[in-house]
Amino acid sequence: MGRNPIILLCCMSLLSSVTVADWNILNQKTKNGLKITLKNYCESWRMNVELHNIREFKVVPEECIGYIKKYVTSTQYDVDSELAMEECTVYLSTSCDFKKDGRDAWIFDIDDTLLSNVPYYKKHNYGGENLNLTSLEEWMSQGKAPALEHSLRLFNEIKARGLQIILVSSRKEHIRSATINNLVNVGYHGWTSLILRGPEDELKSVQAYKANVRNQLIKNSGYRIWGVVGDQYSSIEGLPAAKRTFKLPNPMYYVS
Ligand SMILES: *[C@@H]1O[C@H](CO)[C@@H](O)[C@H](O)[C@H]1NC(C)=O
Repeated sequence: MGRNPIILLCCMSLLSSVTVADWNILNQKTKNGLKITLKNYCESWRMNVELHNIREFKVVPEECIGYIKKYVTSTQYDVDSELAMEECTVYLSTSCDFKKDGRDAWIFDIDDTLLSNVPYYKKHNYGGENLNLTSLEEWMSQGKAPALEHSLRLFNEIKARGLQIILVSSRKEHIRSATINNLVNVGYHGWTSLILRGPEDELKSVQAYKANVRNQLIKNSGYRIWGVVGDQYSSIEGLPAAKRTFKLPNPMYYVS
């Protein structure tokens, strides 16, 4: 009688490792049997988001919300962002032959590129909840987003080099003045133009809208777009392309 519970336990654990195919918190193994921790799993999820292997995710996996919270509030996120912006500086000083005719340009995205929406996502499970556009736009309208400091430093460096800075955002026109106030209040000054999404652009994907903007900047205004900085692939992919693209980390949401 005393040995029965032990036998039962052995059988149960054997059963669970045979029958549970997907990784879960209980068996802590990958599909192929590799023993991993929750941190391994979530770090791999985040890495594959950044590699653009995982696409179109609607919410952060529930079991990784704690991990994503830790990441976006960590020194690591800060360091990752800093290095991305430093690579822009390396590129600017080694690989660009500017004409200085007023047509050398650089594009920045706004959300989670110049301004941080982490305070908003802090209240919404760090991306673990479905997007509520109404409440996100309410947050944007308050104009309280802090600057991403490494982006601000790069912005100022690019301005000092005499490039035209063009802000291309999927924010809508009705948040224009709140966006300008927010940007100015946290230290961004002297951009050449701020392009936001009009009603006709809302019918397109963000990637198509942003590619179309680049096309107009090149064809109609004769700009040479030396670089784009964004936190989403939809800000940097598509044709025509900038000469270089730089991606900031963002594991909280996906915009296509
Ligand atoms: C979305 O946000 C708005 C504004 O905060 C709120 O009134 C509404 O109930 C939310 N919708 C859902 C589905 O949570």
